[in-house]
Amino acid sequence: MESERIYLNSHSIRWSERAQSVLLGGVNSPSRSYKAVGGQAPVTIACAQGAYLYDVDGQRYIDYLAAFGPVIAGHGHPHIAAAVTAAYEEGSLIGAPTPWETLYAERLRMAIPELTRLRFVNSGTEAMMTIIRVSRAYTGRTKVLKCAGCYHGHSDLVLVAAGSGPSSLGIPDSAGVPESIARDVITIPYNDVAALHDAMARYGTELACVMTEPVVGNFGIVEPSPGYLQALRDACDASGALLIYDEVITAFRFRFGAVRHDEVKPDLMALGKIIGGGLPIGAYGGRQDIMEQVAPLGPAYQAGTMAGNPVSLRAGMACLDLLEAPGTYERLATTAKTLADAVRSSAQRHHLTVQVNRYGGAFAAYFTELPVTDYEGAKRADGRLFALFFHALRERGVMIAPSKYEAWFTTLAHSDDDIAVTLAIIDDSLAQVARHA
Ligand SMILES: Cc1ncc(COP(=O)(O)O)c(C=O)c1O
Repeated sequence: MESERIYLNSHSIRWSERAQSVLLGGVNSPSRSYKAVGGQAPVTIACAQGAYLYDVDGQRYIDYLAAFGPVIAGHGHPHIAAAVTAAYEEGSLIGAPTPWETLYAERLRMAIPELTRLRFVNSGTEAMMTIIRVSRAYTGRTKVLKCAGCYHGHSDLVLVAAGSGPSSLGIPDSAGVPESIARDVITIPYNDVAALHDAMARYGTELACVMTEPVVGNFGIVEPSPGYLQALRDACDASGALLIYDEVITAFRFRFGAVRHDEVKPDLMALGKIIGGGLPIGAYGGRQDIMEQVAPLGPAYQAGTMAGNPVSLRAGMACLDLLEAPGTYERLATTAKTLADAVRSSAQRHHLTVQVNRYGGAFAAYFTELPVTDYEGAKRADGRLFALFFHALRERGVMIAPSKYEAWFTTLAHSDDDIAVTLAIIDDSLAQVARHA
């Protein structure tokens, strides 16, 4: 009976009201609000452990939000917790070089050899913002090219057609970004080689860089079509623009290292999320001659009081220890496949049309008839049905991101029992969506 499912979230509502009276909009990042799924008070989480979130009303959720991707080992993993405690006790912030920075940089370069030189920052936004500056410094050019729907953080230049967060809130281009800046951003549809060639013919010699997510994680999950990344590489080589991979979601999510689609390598790459083991981090790096543009070696300035802090670095290294174990990525992918297949088959059983895109340990379900290969396709997905699905899952104890543009992420903490419970909840939830479709 649906009436049995009515979820008592009175404490969450009270916390949300209290939050709104002091925190702007009640949240510290707009994607955490439920604006895209009906505007209710978001669930307030009291604590998280392993595969579960526990809210302030005592409800438990199996967590596939994974904090929008980083929490790949689950919450509060003892190996990461021990590293964090040790790091804090030995000095959480020094303001001088520490061995940890070098050790972690060496380890990342071992996994991603094209990171000839790299630097740690505090967020994915910072990493991408700096990459653009460095690209401009290296090429002496101003314009940048991005793919519609790819999100590269919230710095001015990349908030044009910026995917998940802004799209969910109906903010395609942010207020406060001057037109003079937006004019320097050329946007093309993802996976559209003809549009790429047109844009390169027109702007190629003015472009400092071409940015992409090598596998998209910001309008669901979308794989590059065969040859697409090579087409980007060739276009950059022909025009002198730098090829930038934003691997903030993808690095260490799908394999131990960066995405290796078609073996196409970028000139520079941004990292974040998983490499912090659940703590704030970002990193950028790539070709030595380009990175040498950055101070203190070169004229492009970038700095950070918190950058390279030992707590984030040691949490990240501990997380990589866990990810390096044999079978990790097979397990993450198998879990995601089981769930993705279940969404497909349950939807069919309940006469709902759903497209499910899965790549490794992440997938997205779109309520739409046509396959989703670009942002326009994702936009066509039915937001009302997604909202029904989101709330049906939530009421039954499964948490995903509150936006049709976000993915489900699997973690090392999900047990066979969690998966079995989730499969039943998916089916029950889609049955409810069908009743209201
Ligand atoms: C691909 C990508 N790049 C950059 C960012 C920005 O990272 P941060 O939120 O750490 O600033 C995100 C965040 O979701 C992202 O998904």
